[in-house]
Amino acid sequence: MRTKLVAGNWKMNKTAAEALQLTDELLNGLRPFPAGVEVAIMPPFPYLMSVAEKIKTTPVKLGAQNCSEHPWGAYTGEVSAPMLKSAGVTYVIIGHSERRQYFGEEGALLAQKTDAALASQLLPVFCCGEPLVVREDNRHFDLVKMQLEEGLFHLPPEAITKVVIAYEPVWAIGTGKTATPAQAQEMHAFIRRQLADKYGNQVAEQVRILYGGSVNAANANSLFACADVDGGLVGGASLKAAEFLQIVRAAGN
Ligand code: PGA
Repeated sequence: MRTKLVAGNWKMNKTAAEALQLTDELLNGLRPFPAGVEVAIMPPFPYLMSVAEKIKTTPVKLGAQNCSEHPWGAYTGEVSAPMLKSAGVTYVIIGHSERRQYFGEEGALLAQKTDAALASQLLPVFCCGEPLVVREDNRHFDLVKMQLEEGLFHLPPEAITKVVIAYEPVWAIGTGKTATPAQAQEMHAFIRRQLADKYGNQVAEQVRILYGGSVNAANANSLFACADVDGGLVGGASLKAAEFLQIVRAAGN
């Protein structure tokens, strides 16, 4: 039985004061903490330690949005996995489509970042998903398969079960255009089949596959009801406590 995960990716939003206020609002709204659903919040780097302090006596987990492939050293402006671990982080997003698109992150680099995260006992949230032109060309399954092979399939079975996969069709991110539950389920089942082909059914059944792309309070129920959708990676709707809380409740249903 996979525990559903709802993760709020705040992206590059909020001042320090706003980040702490949102954390307080979420914690107040979550009490009593729901059973059967795991909640993670992923603030920008500068707020991680102060958010960590606020959530430390709660079941809410802390996530980061990226990490360096290197552990330490002269890499000005970078933040590494050992640093995140020491700051109280549990999850780290690897290969978000915005990192792929605006920062040229792909293939071998994302495999290195995944390894760096796991080496520091962080749990990678590895993102995959196709741009609109690729879906229109009916090449979305091929592309997602390639993204998984390049970024994850070098891992041994005991490591892949620590990874959370997030399927985020690029055409659905921040656009208000959500994949239909049928489109999400079709791709999630495909991803699980790739995992089963590579690692066997028993391993594939343990890996959580989140959907991301314009998840909101209105569509969360139907998306999370899909057999292979194990929760959501939520962007815009995670910036408003009331809406994020409704999404968390949808995952607990
Ligand atoms: P969105 O972003 O919910 O605003 O579409 C999701 C994501 O990019 O993780």
